[in-house]
Amino acid sequence: MRQNIVAGNWKMNNTLEEGIKLAKEVSAILTANKPNCKVVLGAPFIHLTEVVKAVDSSLVGIAAQNCANKESGAYTGEISASMVKSTGATYVILGHSERRAYYGETNALLKEKTDLALANGLTPIFCIGEVLEEREANKHFEVVKNQIEEALFHLSADAFSKIVLAYEPVWAIGTGKTASPEQAQEIHAYIRKVVADKFGASVADNTSILYGGSCKASNAKELFANPDVDGGLIGGASLNAEDFYGIIAAF
Ligand code: 13P
Repeated sequence: MRQNIVAGNWKMNNTLEEGIKLAKEVSAILTANKPNCKVVLGAPFIHLTEVVKAVDSSLVGIAAQNCANKESGAYTGEISASMVKSTGATYVILGHSERRAYYGETNALLKEKTDLALANGLTPIFCIGEVLEEREANKHFEVVKNQIEEALFHLSADAFSKIVLAYEPVWAIGTGKTASPEQAQEIHAYIRKVVADKFGASVADNTSILYGGSCKASNAKELFANPDVDGGLIGGASLNAEDFYGIIAAF
């Protein structure tokens, strides 16, 4: 059966020193209180090597927040999937709405990044989600289907089974406005159906689909109680160990 996962996305926050401190705090809390789910920390590239060392790897996995769409070579400033892998990180967040909106990442580009992440043995946490205008126009189903279709439908069922999906409605990210448990369940069930129609019921059943967008300790329990919500991708509330643990403890 699919895994429940609570993943933090630190985004562009924390100096190296602060990141190591936070990773150690999270690991210590989880050593004392064994989690009932997989826990992942999404750290900036330059933190990866150190936060991998700072945590108990049996309790906490480490994710990069991006990787390049090229294998290697003359791409100044880029970080490849194999470089991420060499740090000891095992996950990579791909297609976050901030990457799509501010850095022009398209589904076609994300297809390339996904292939390279998988080829290097990383687990992609692949983000999808609609903006407010799309939700208001009742286009959210169509939008997420298109994102999955264009970036992931070329994969074999076996390759797709290595992917974690994260549904993050853009209107809920960093706004304090959370999708209601009913809204989350409705679209997560739809996403699982899209996966089932393409890759089969068993792959769909085994795919973890996380919710992201103003998820915090006070609303995590009711969100995670839904049958198709398998955890969360957490921004702001992952920047403090106690707050983050409050969400982990919802499982
Ligand atoms: P917030 O939890 O800060 O809304 O961010 C969600 C997010 O974008 C995680 O990737």
